[in-house]
Amino acid sequence: MPRRSAGVVSYLPPLSRAWIVALFVGGSCGAAVGQDLPDPGRPDPGAGQAVAVGAFNAAPGGACFQCHGQDGEGDAAAAFPRLSGQSYGYLVKSLKDYASGARQNEIMSPIAEALSEQEMRDVSAYYAGLEAEVAPLQPAADAEALQYGAALAAIGSAELGIQGCLNCHGPDGAGLGHTYPYLAGQHATYTEAQLRAWQEGTRTGDPLGIMAEIAVRMTEREIAAVAAYYARLPPYTDGTAEEPGQ
Ligand code: HEC
Ligand code: HEC
Repeated sequence: MPRRSAGVVSYLPPLSRAWIVALFVGGSCGAAVGQDLPDPGRPDPGAGQAVAVGAFNAAPGGACFQCHGQDGEGDAAAAFPRLSGQSYGYLVKSLKDYASGARQNEIMSPIAEALSEQEMRDVSAYYAGLEAEVAPLQPAADAEALQYGAALAAIGSAELGIQGCLNCHGPDGAGLGHTYPYLAGQHATYTEAQLRAWQEGTRTGDPLGIMAEIAVRMTEREIAAVAAYYARLPPYTDGTAEEPGQ
């Protein structure tokens, strides 16, 4: 599978034989399907690429790449998040959260509801394996805001009772394991929207409620500063994040 998308649209891996056999057999004799299906838990990034370009199951709102970009780089102006190099486990969880209603979003909820569990795994493995494209420096932010954002990221704010983001999101905002997503290189518009979603209670999938607790202590000043700070850090992931499935 190519790491870069130069060919995301023009290059599609052929359907694996196992899939074709499984689909064919599945249509004629359900009892035999089990033998030919690939391990249902094992993610297949090649099949995930087909999901991303809408080859299998055109999502209700369009194919993933139409919003999330050909390299999974997202779109700052529209607040479509970068997905490239994000951790596999976190991406799967996010899709499940949209499907279950733990994350409510009028665009992503119906899209996630239309995906099977296997498609969620496949498409997550595909995006987790893409290298993060460096975005142009954005958004424009004044030095004071960036400095404040950097301080929030590193040490938080004793006054507001917020701990430093790096405690969980890692040095340089690179993310940690499958639980803590990267923030570095993520579009500020999207990061801001998430912090507001926790404030408003439309994002609740975080089992310990950590992010909601942090977000409600932030004002628009903190939200804008920390989002601008992280957006301007280079995406840290190199596409070699943990093996899917761990
Ligand atoms: C019409 C535009 C659109 C399409 C098509 C689309 N998305 Fe999204 N996606 C969004 C928006 C907008 C958000 C942010 C929603 C929010 O604020 O929670 C998002 C968020 C996400 C997230 C959460 C990322 C994070 O860091 O938490 C994932 C994962 C995701 N999309 C995967 C997909 C996949 C997989 C597909 C295709 C099956 C897809 N999206 C198709 C617009 C789109
Ligand atoms: C104690 C641990 C912890 C700390 C500290 C923390 N976070 Fe988080 N953060 C999490 C967890 C866990 C998630 C994933 C939540 C989920 O799966 O719904 C998360 C998710 C996020 C996301 C969503 C990313 C995405 O792609 O959708 C943003 C934005 C975020 N955190 C911002 C921050 C900021 C800004 C700070 C510092 C002010 C911070 N976090 C501090 C634990 C933490």
